[in-house]
Amino acid sequence: MVSHKKSNKKQFVILISALIIGIALGVTLCAFKFNSLKITNIANNDISANTTEVAPVAEKVVAPSFDKTKFSTADPSSIWVVVNKQHPLSSVDFVPSDLITTNGATISSKAVDDFEAMLAAAATESITLTATSSYRSYDTQSKLYNGYIAEHGQAVADTFSAKPGYSEHQTGFAIDFTSIYEPICNFDDCFSDAIDGAWLTAHASDYGFILRYTAEKQSITGYKAESWHYRYIGRELATEMKKQSITTLEEFFNVTGGEIYL
Ligand code: DAL
Ligand code: ZN
Repeated sequence: MVSHKKSNKKQFVILISALIIGIALGVTLCAFKFNSLKITNIANNDISANTTEVAPVAEKVVAPSFDKTKFSTADPSSIWVVVNKQHPLSSVDFVPSDLITTNGATISSKAVDDFEAMLAAAATESITLTATSSYRSYDTQSKLYNGYIAEHGQAVADTFSAKPGYSEHQTGFAIDFTSIYEPICNFDDCFSDAIDGAWLTAHASDYGFILRYTAEKQSITGYKAESWHYRYIGRELATEMKKQSITTLEEFFNVTGGEIYL
């Protein structure tokens, strides 16, 4: 009898144990299944997140390219006009209609504000800029050029003086500066070493003026270096040329130049 009871109890324990193991197995299987579903969903969500929730890529800001056609390079009243031995003024006896005389210079009204601002800026450093030759008429250029020919011969004169109708001075956009500090350097290379000449070298382009004739670019501009000859082209172009490290209008606008007359 006792052994029968014992046997029943043993069977009962085995049954309960089997039940518990079964339940545990079931629960484990369910948990496993649930987790794999979760992993699949996460993966799916990640794909959709990649397409819908990624922070918008900031639009690339493309600086507008410089518009080289904004002003004419052929019209002598344009601040971008290119005048050289291959490009005379379109009308050789051209006279600017807007000449203004200010601070010793006679220049196009288009250059006046920047010229005055440049003089004022130099003055804040106690430097006086001296404009000595600016607008020159066809006749004035003619007298100068012929005088140089008489003195030096045409071949030499052509290296530093333009024929009438071919000079930037006739546009009202060119200014020759001299120095009250180093007058011995007037119309000489050493003007750029004088305090006013050095100031111009460093700052003129900030006011829209470029040094037009340099030794390195004689074969392009057609003239020997003139450390005193500045040409107004406006701040926008002067800034762009500086940015691109281009020093001549011929190179910037891809316009022919050189030492041979047309
Ligand atoms: N000296 C410059 C080239 C001119 O005569 O215009
Ligand atoms: Zn000059």
